[in-house]
Amino acid sequence: MDVVVAHDRAGLQEARTALGGAGRLALVPTMGALHEGHRSLIRLARERADHVAVSIFVNPLQFSPNEDFSRYPRTFDADLEVCAAEGVGIVFAPSDEVMYRPDRQVSVSAGEMGAIVEGAFRPGHFDGVLTVVLKLFNLVRPDVAVFGQKDAQQLALIRRMVLDLDVPVEIVAGPTVREPDGLALSSRNRYLSAEDRVVALALSRALREGARHRAPADIRRAAREVLDAAAPALALDYLVLADPATFAEVGDDHVGEAVLAVAARVGSTRLIDNMVLTLT
Ligand code: PAF
Repeated sequence: MDVVVAHDRAGLQEARTALGGAGRLALVPTMGALHEGHRSLIRLARERADHVAVSIFVNPLQFSPNEDFSRYPRTFDADLEVCAAEGVGIVFAPSDEVMYRPDRQVSVSAGEMGAIVEGAFRPGHFDGVLTVVLKLFNLVRPDVAVFGQKDAQQLALIRRMVLDLDVPVEIVAGPTVREPDGLALSSRNRYLSAEDRVVALALSRALREGARHRAPADIRRAAREVLDAAAPALALDYLVLADPATFAEVGDDHVGEAVLAVAARVGSTRLIDNMVLTLT
């Protein structure tokens, strides 16, 4: 079956109707520049539902003025080929004007959880993410939506939004896909020079070193040592060992799951990565 591309609400409605009422629909929200990580989310979506929709929208609300909104990679034709090859039924690719009315007033607040860790470095970012995700849910009306574990705080906040606002969508997390040398796939990796790319490997190396330990203090220290050794080429924004559901830092006696999350700048590129650990 060919992929149907919709650019507005009417087109999306038509595409949805063409699928027929039967079966579950999964949504994979993306900002395009699709890579192997997105492909794995689409494959997971296909396992969880009968039809898959992919949204492609570089959401201006989640970028602050000093971020890379205008230079964010836009590769629509290639993205469409990926979607067709992966058996996607609907691609929803709205313009900014279709998504946001010029006089819009109401948006979603990510609350205090959206202002810590990644949110402390990107004020308003998670409000923008949750607003667009809720709009996409309302427009596409999926039964299930698939998000990457790579954006761990985003995933936690989307789960929180679904819970707090009673949004009837099942949230599924897809594992982070990595290059053979450990670098987590990201649409922003294409900004890295050859030298930057070598420096960037410190993020995943730090997570692996941290994961060799069991006690929170040892995990933080081991990961921090790797990141410090890569400075100043790598400029650390944060390293946290946090509760995966709330993103609050875990205490030294924490038992159970914890996410070791890191963000750093390498050259002009900001990278994030994380690993979920089970502390016993
Ligand atoms: O993870 C992303 O690509 C974006 O934050 C999302 C979820 C598509 C919202 O714009």
